[in-house]
Amino acid sequence: MTFQYAASVGDLGTEEAMLVELDGADGAPVPVAVVRDADGEYHAINDICTHGQVSLSDGEVLGCLIECWLHGSQFDLRTGKPMQLPATKPVAVYPLKIDGENVLVDVDNAL
Ligand code: FES
Repeated sequence: MTFQYAASVGDLGTEEAMLVELDGADGAPVPVAVVRDADGEYHAINDICTHGQVSLSDGEVLGCLIECWLHGSQFDLRTGKPMQLPATKPVAVYPLKIDGENVLVDVDNAL
């Protein structure tokens, strides 16, 4: 497992998301949405909506869901599963841990 620095805990308020680019195992950049849910928990999911290839971090966080701004699909931040059509495929969810003030994400081992 390779955890990389993704954000500082102070970067996100509740129900906020931000886009970061991390390094994949093959050296290619991986777009990741780091999200803080309504309960203050942090999540990391692949930033690209599985329906139309747009950035999920530009969408709205609703409780423990993120809503795609383009067609309204909602993804569960814990599982990546689409909970609202039109998306039918899940987004990858990445292991995340907090180390002091740092939010660390492992993009090599999607859950
Ligand atoms: S592009 Fe995200 S729901 Fe269509």
